[in-house]
Amino acid sequence: MRCYGGIESDLAQVEAILKREMSSKFPAVSDIVSYGYLLGGKRLRPALVLLCGQAWSNVSSDHHKLGAVLEMVHTATLIHDDVLDGAETRRHLQTIHHRWGTESSVLVGDFLFTHAFYLASTLPTTLAARKIGQATNVVCEGELRQITTKGRFDLSEDEYLSIIEAKTAALCECACELGAIYAECPEDAGKQAAEYGRCLGIAFQIVDDLLDIEGDTDQTGKTLGTDLAQRKPTLPLIHALKVAPVATKAKMLSVLASEDPAPGQIQAWLEEFDSAAYARETAIRYVETALAAVSQWPDNDATAALRQLAEFVLKRCY
Ligand code: IPE
Ligand code: IPE
Ligand code: MG
Ligand code: MG
Repeated sequence: MRCYGGIESDLAQVEAILKREMSSKFPAVSDIVSYGYLLGGKRLRPALVLLCGQAWSNVSSDHHKLGAVLEMVHTATLIHDDVLDGAETRRHLQTIHHRWGTESSVLVGDFLFTHAFYLASTLPTTLAARKIGQATNVVCEGELRQITTKGRFDLSEDEYLSIIEAKTAALCECACELGAIYAECPEDAGKQAAEYGRCLGIAFQIVDDLLDIEGDTDQTGKTLGTDLAQRKPTLPLIHALKVAPVATKAKMLSVLASEDPAPGQIQAWLEEFDSAAYARETAIRYVETALAAVSQWPDNDATAALRQLAEFVLKRCY
């Protein structure tokens, strides 16, 4: 996702903070803490902080720190998520879980969470630490709630949307709102930024769940197919189960209940009921709401980049 026009030098400053902070005087700790992390992912959350700030004024060193903090929290959630999903590949590398095991994954995630909150506490006001703390709690609640959906093929679309809003959109919402607020935006713009981030985050996760079904590991750089393997219902499957005739639904449920549900068989039903298209249309509606939230924002390069980013979320293949 490289449509971050105009904020490259600010992103480089975020990277510099990450590089400096994600280390330890103990080489064995440094190796694992910086692993995979410095090679990076899309850096979406820092980009959201910077673009929402840049839309209102020049970004400050506070924005760089906020970007680094949010990226650390996000990475911690990924490291823990890879344990939950039993994933082997992340950011084109072996996951920490696969390479070092569960114990190290739990502790590196803890290291990143705690260091992120330490850094947030060094900002001039407590607002960011408070909001990031609340958002991170919501993310963890979302991941915990998702665990309870395993094998629950009666999950409703609303429940699914509420869970992804928590596990993914909360941090995007927080990144956008803080980026705008730390740029001293008007009060309404803080709320609009939050709404943009929330809707973008929901669309982002819907597309991510589509990639888990029909994406390419070489492009995404992460293990795919884990949702089905973990029996986590996502939007295409929820849709197919809803629209399938009774007899087909019964067959689907029996395949899903089997020891090792064959992805090809499920895929055929998703195609039959156009369920990927349904999920994509839902993501499009969230992107439209995200775009509407910032429609009155100043006409500048950062606002244009936020619009482009929302469109890109729908097209992304990584
Ligand atoms: C992955 O997030 C987890 C989800 C919320 C879907 P990203 O797709 O932003 O991961 P990186 O940071 O680019 O690796
Ligand atoms: C996890 O969702 C989102 C987090 C909050 C960590 P996924 O399980 O779909 O994320 P990926 O596909 O592993 O990146
Ligand atoms: Mg996962
Ligand atoms: Mg996923």
